[in-house]
Amino acid sequence: MADKASLSLNGDSFDYDVKPGTVGPDVIDIRKLYGQTGAFTFDPGFTSTASCESKITYIDGDQGILLHRGYPIEQLAEQSSFMEAAYLLLHGELPSKSEFDTFTYTISRHTMLHEQLATFYRGFRRDAHPMAIMCGVVGALSAFYHDSTDITDPHQRMVASHRLIAKMPTIAAMAYKYSIGQPFLYPDNSLSYTGNFLRMTFGVPAEEYVVDPVIERAMDRIFILHADHEQNASTSTVRLAGSSGANPFACIAAGIACLWGPAHGGANEAALNMLREIGTVDRIPEYIARAKDKNDPFRLMGFGHRVYKNYDPRAKVMQKTANEVLEKLGVDDPIFDVARELEQIALKDEYFVEKKLYPNVDFYSGVILSAIGFPTSMFTVLFALARTTGWVAQWNEMISDPDQKIGRPRQLYTGATQRDYVPVGQR
Ligand code: SDX
Repeated sequence: MADKASLSLNGDSFDYDVKPGTVGPDVIDIRKLYGQTGAFTFDPGFTSTASCESKITYIDGDQGILLHRGYPIEQLAEQSSFMEAAYLLLHGELPSKSEFDTFTYTISRHTMLHEQLATFYRGFRRDAHPMAIMCGVVGALSAFYHDSTDITDPHQRMVASHRLIAKMPTIAAMAYKYSIGQPFLYPDNSLSYTGNFLRMTFGVPAEEYVVDPVIERAMDRIFILHADHEQNASTSTVRLAGSSGANPFACIAAGIACLWGPAHGGANEAALNMLREIGTVDRIPEYIARAKDKNDPFRLMGFGHRVYKNYDPRAKVMQKTANEVLEKLGVDDPIFDVARELEQIALKDEYFVEKKLYPNVDFYSGVILSAIGFPTSMFTVLFALARTTGWVAQWNEMISDPDQKIGRPRQLYTGATQRDYVPVGQR
């Protein structure tokens, strides 16, 4: 590709550097454009805008490729663990055995919450949406861990990163326990990261909880599939919040709030609710028609993606995992049949083919999570738990970027031009 791009405006011509990526689209560096032309670029939704330079995750939407630090998601899901993937995202390389042991030991030593944070839960109604609790409790972490909020100190940044990765399962499990009126369980660090989460979620003080290795493996794989995804809406929110110098706990709370939306992380909850509303295979055509109807706001939840115009590679791994979990649990959930039939019908429908709408990560995840025993209201919480690792890695990368500055977009103003105030008696 050329190393320069030219723009002509009002008879003048302006040249801009083209910066190549190691893979994927090059970028046109327009940082001087406003100063030279007096005009802004206009790109609501950032469909053609690179907000930063990153080395963490690469997506090829046309090929359906997802790489974390160069490793394909299919290989990580099959051969790695969520803790190893977390190390990879944070540090850029797969860990040696001793690096991995040190990392998992460090994470395990941060799984407990300050005891006073448990009282935060009692301020919520029992029927509060768990994501509302996550926004509140994660944001409150900055009121307790002052010794890891100085973002100029690399040591404090790493301590905050470890605390966030380690405490999310505890906070998430507590949100679930609170919603069902059961007591909180403390972490048991003799278990794996994911096994610990399953025990805190489904265990009770009255009985020993034995982690099912098949469920533990499926859950760990689901966490890997949700760990990071380049500059999606919630990651961009974390970066934007971090660009002002906000502390890491506040930045992750901002990411959780953004992820909650049904167009983003909230889609897994919405997708399962949609499958339940469809209920049976014979009702699928009615919903396909609604999804295609411009006058109907209904969309096929779990379908479509800003970047993937091919299969979301995570959806394929998720479907395979759903098969395994349902078989292991002996669950014959008609919802899974509806999901598979809906996918087949949609993929043959010219509307979805023409608009390149394929299942995304959220389409099958709810079937698995429901089979494991999570209520739909916990689905996005699980997404946030896993994505915290990606958010933390992206936040660290942004803070360490010498080019980073506070994010402050401009606008196309089409409001009123200047006019004088009119006293109420003269209006
Ligand atoms: C996630 O960015 C990420 O990486 C996100 C994520 C991550 O890991 O962080 O991958 C996680 O958020 C996955 C997406 C989960 N959301 C859903 O499943 C909700 C349903 N999907 C859509 O709302 C939509 O597909 C988006 C929001 C995901 C993407 O929207 P875009 O890129 O802004 O595309 P668009 O809305 O402009 O849609 C293009 C066309 C439109 O038709 P036209 O106006 O061109 O005629 O496709 C149509 C849309 O109406 N369309 C759909 C559809 N998705 C898009 N029509 C029916 N059903 C759908 N699901």
